[in-house]
Amino acid sequence: MKRTSDLIRAAAFVLAVIALVPSSCSRREPEPSPAPAETADELRLKETTVRNVTDNPITYKIYPAGKLEAGEIREIAPGAIERFRTASTLEIEFNTGRKDAVYSLDPGSPYSFRYDEGEVIDLFLGSHGRADAVDLAPWVPTPQPVVDRMLELAAVSDKDVLFDIGCGDGRIVITAARRYGARGVGIDIDKAMIEESERNAAAAGVERQVKFINMDATKADISEATIVSLYLLPESNALMRPILEAQLRPKSRVVCHNYAIPGWEAKQAQTETVKDENGEDHYVYLYIR
Ligand SMILES: C[S@@+](CC[C@H](N)C(=O)[O-])C[C@H]1O[C@@H](n2cnc3c(N)ncnc32)[C@H](O)[C@@H]1O
Repeated sequence: MKRTSDLIRAAAFVLAVIALVPSSCSRREPEPSPAPAETADELRLKETTVRNVTDNPITYKIYPAGKLEAGEIREIAPGAIERFRTASTLEIEFNTGRKDAVYSLDPGSPYSFRYDEGEVIDLFLGSHGRADAVDLAPWVPTPQPVVDRMLELAAVSDKDVLFDIGCGDGRIVITAARRYGARGVGIDIDKAMIEESERNAAAAGVERQVKFINMDATKADISEATIVSLYLLPESNALMRPILEAQLRPKSRVVCHNYAIPGWEAKQAQTETVKDENGEDHYVYLYIR
């Protein structure tokens, strides 16, 4: 069953309105030139990226906010990433497959086209602006009561090595180390999250038990794991499935927040609904290989 969770809701956008600054300006260079100083406009330019993580080419129109007449129609191929140097908000229009949608894009933010519920195509915040990495999910933390229950269900002990795929601020790995004496590895594509995880591990006094790696988790060696935790978008769990199947040893445990692993219904050992501190329901799935 598909449902809209915090993760999907949080992947929605921020609306704002400003005007686009041209991405370059032509100007005469002064005589024998050191590198030309950047103009104030250029200094304000940020790279907004749009990535297509669906299997379909998508046609869209993009223009500086409020300037529809300056709109450009483009097509983005499956897997492609497009970059816009802008100091201000852009607007993007496309058809979701059911209706026309218009969104505003914040300068400097990464977005991705992906499937929402019912195979509708939508645009979400968070693709890391990287052409070489798969976008598994935006950063949304698992609430601590849910982390605690995930680790209980997975029966973590000091003999375990837990890998968190897309570790965010490291909370799952750090809790497993602090509470159960487990070793842990957190992997995240976002360098800032890795740095935050390292600071959090030091503050919790578990920095010798844990390691954080800044890389695309789909390219990681996770064969040392006895437990893997996932809080990723549903299609990202599907993407991770063959990697888990190829690398995990028998009896390893896989514990997922909110989204099951498609195709692993028969392996499902336990499913639970867990309430967070605000009384909201979260779903935890445990699999044993
Ligand atoms: C929903 S958050 C989950 C964070 C943490 N596991 C938790 O449950 O609190 C997903 C994380 O996956 C990371 N991520 C997205 N794509 C990734 C990739 N290809 N490789 C590694 N991490 C990725 C994001 O940066 C984000 O921190």
